[in-house]
Parts: sequence; structure tokens; C-alpha cells
Amino acid sequence: MAVYSGISMVLCLWVGVVFGVCLASAIVELPTFHHPTKGDGSLSFLVIGDWGRKGDYNQSQVAFQMGEIGDQLAIDFVVSTGDNFYDNGLTGEHDDAFTESFTDVYTAESLQKQWYSVLGNHDYRGDAEAQLSSHLRKLDSRWPCLRSFVVNTETVDLFFVDTTPFVEEYFNSPEHVYDWRGVFPQQTYTKNVLNGLEYALMKSTTKWRIVIGHHAIRSAGHHGDTKELVERLLPILRTYNVDLYMNGHDHSLEHISDDESPIQFMTSGAGSKAWRGDVTMDRKGVSFFYDGQGFMSVQLVETDIGIVFYGC
Ligand SMILES: *[C@@H]1O[C@H](CO)[C@@H](O)[C@H](O)[C@H]1NC(C)=O
Repeated sequence: MAVYSGISMVLCLWVGVVFGVCLASAIVELPTFHHPTKGDGSLSFLVIGDWGRKGDYNQSQVAFQMGEIGDQLAIDFVVSTGDNFYDNGLTGEHDDAFTESFTDVYTAESLQKQWYSVLGNHDYRGDAEAQLSSHLRKLDSRWPCLRSFVVNTETVDLFFVDTTPFVEEYFNSPEHVYDWRGVFPQQTYTKNVLNGLEYALMKSTTKWRIVIGHHAIRSAGHHGDTKELVERLLPILRTYNVDLYMNGHDHSLEHISDDESPIQFMTSGAGSKAWRGDVTMDRKGVSFFYDGQGFMSVQLVETDIGIVFYGC
């Protein structure tokens, strides 16, 4: 186990392939959930993104493997980095896609845990508020999806950030219609998100801090870096000693290191459709890129974080 910027990267073998990765203005208070750790303070969870395709594009195969690994690691919860339902989110809270792409796909016993989900840009192309509705939680109690929130545990605080409203091009898109209810005016909304995040980070006293959003800050894949997040979110993560930033959006698995801080950028957006064949490996900091389907696991104790990518 090599210690790397304070984070231990563990190797993993799966289907004969090694994917080791190796791997102030007004105070805004984000909704906060408390999640218990295991008795010894450790915690493990899976991270999956860009998945809801009614089982197609290997979504079901990835789900099956998640079930196996979830069982081995006795995971405490699952994190979804967004783009939960393709192509255009849910049509409403009664859309059968919720059951067909979520409940009927992630059926393994080990995945019957809380899922903490954020919205992706594709989710905003449908009825975004439907995914936040308590009706879905009645259909499947694993499903709390909020725009921005905090999950507090004994060992780590996880900060979920609604990144889609930061991306300017979606507001000038003639191609797609986005559901911006609750988001206008955009500048006020994004400022409040960042204020809420800063306040929560300031108060955080856990050993580890992980921030999660749909869009990448750094990515070597098709979409690349998200410039609005590099400008507005990254400085906050650096100031408050965030350890990891996790995202989806690019349909790949990636590990990139920050050049100015110990922050590690992890992309896990490979829950279904992948193999885009569009990668820029010759950039600084990229230590791992996988273009196909898969997911990621995180195991945490007070002294170490172990991250493993699983691909198929
Ligand atoms: C599904 O995964 C297999 C490898 O397990 C791969 O050969 C195939 O291309 C994948 N299908 C899609 C649609 O990505």
C-alpha cells in the first residue's frame, strides 16, 4: 500500500483486469444528514454516476458487480454523482423510469442502503423537482436526492454540490430545455450554493472532507475541465483543505491530482454508456483513466482513504 499525498491507493483485481488506481453574505445552511459509521469509525461506500438507462449499455452488469463489491466491503451507502435518468431526467414523479432504471436494476442485497444523489445536466432536462420529491422516497426508501446537502459522519463529511446551474452554456442552449424552477436568478442561486458550502466546510471538524458534484473540475475526458467550477469552486476546496472532489459527467473513471494542493479529483461517471474514445492523457496530474463502464469504492478510516476503480 503506497502512501500517496496522504491517501493510500489500493490495488484491485476484477474480471482479470487490474484497475488499480491506483489510484459572505447571509449564511446559508445546507440540509445535513447524519450517517453512522461502523463501530470502529470506519466507513465504506460505492460511487456511481451517469447510469439510468433501464439496464441498457451494461448498466445491469455494472449493477451486478456493484452488488458483489458492496457485499465484500459491507458498504454503508452509495453515492450517485448525477445524470440519474437518461436521456431527459424524469417526466414527473410518476415516471416509470424511476423504477425501471433504479429499483429494478440495483437489486442486490448489499445495495439496499441509503443512496445520496445529486442532479446532473440530463436530470435538469426533465422535471428536476420530481427527483427531489418525497413520492419517490415512498416508492423506494433508498432515494434521497437533493440539490445541495451535507452528509456528516464521525470520520468524514461529504458535501454535495448542485453544479449544473453553474454552467453558462446550458442557459444559452437552443438545443435543450432545462427545468430551472428554483434556480433563477442564476447568480443568486450559485452564490448561495457556494456560501452554504463554505459555511459547512468552515464548521466541519472531521478528519476527511469530500466534495461531490456532477461536473468535473478536472477531467481528461470528452467534456474536460468545467471552467466555471475551476474559477468558483476550486478556490474554496483549496482554502478548506478538501481531500477529494468526486464527480461524474464524463463517462469514464479517472484520477487526477491538483497541481497546487493535495486535492485529488476522482471521476466516476461510468454507470452505463461509455467507450467514448476521447481522452487527453498528456496533461499534468493524470494518473488513471478508463474509458469503459464501471464504478468506484471508497474505504475510510481515520488515518487512510483507500480508493479502488472497478471496470468491465
Ligand atoms: C458491455 O461490456 C462488454 C465487456 O464486458 C463490452 O464488450 C461491450 O462493448 C459493452 N457494451 C456496451 C454497449 O458498452
